[in-house]
Amino acid sequence: MATISADDETPTRRDFIHIWAAGAAAVGAGAVAWPFIDQMNPDASVLALASVEVDLSAVEVGQGIKVTWRGKPVFIRRRTAAEIEEAKAVEQGDLKDPQTDDERVIEGPNGALQSEWLVLVGICTHLGCVPLGTSDGESKGDYGGWFCPCHGSHYDTSGRIRKGPAPGNLEVPEYAFLSDTRIKIG
Ligand code: FES
Repeated sequence: MATISADDETPTRRDFIHIWAAGAAAVGAGAVAWPFIDQMNPDASVLALASVEVDLSAVEVGQGIKVTWRGKPVFIRRRTAAEIEEAKAVEQGDLKDPQTDDERVIEGPNGALQSEWLVLVGICTHLGCVPLGTSDGESKGDYGGWFCPCHGSHYDTSGRIRKGPAPGNLEVPEYAFLSDTRIKIG
């Protein structure tokens, strides 16, 4: 029967402990250092992540695009007149998370509400899946807006929850129009 003496085993165990300890120290140092670096010296890449500018000039009526902002998907849809009308016609009593369509769009540079443009964080308010409905050919659900296939949540043309387990409307991020065709998100 083969036997392993203490001398045979010890170097291996010691090496392992050293390797593990070195790794843990590196992770620990990184975790401690990052908040200081982040607070004291936000470089260009950090600032760039805080907001994103989007040129809307190539988006046709009825089309949608997806952009990424702070690591999250953002849906931008240029709504048709029919989609806007449908969104405005909904009775507040029919909504799980009541909000008028006007509360979900913002004013442009001329001070008028830009109802044509709907900007939403593309994360389902149920458990965080990314709903379908922005790109051509994707299911828009029963209410013509967005559909989350994870558990079947349907959002209307204002991004409001209408059916399924999601508790709330798709979030409208903080954004502003820089011109008629350019927005800044964040
Ligand atoms: Fe969207 Fe569950 S995560 S319906």
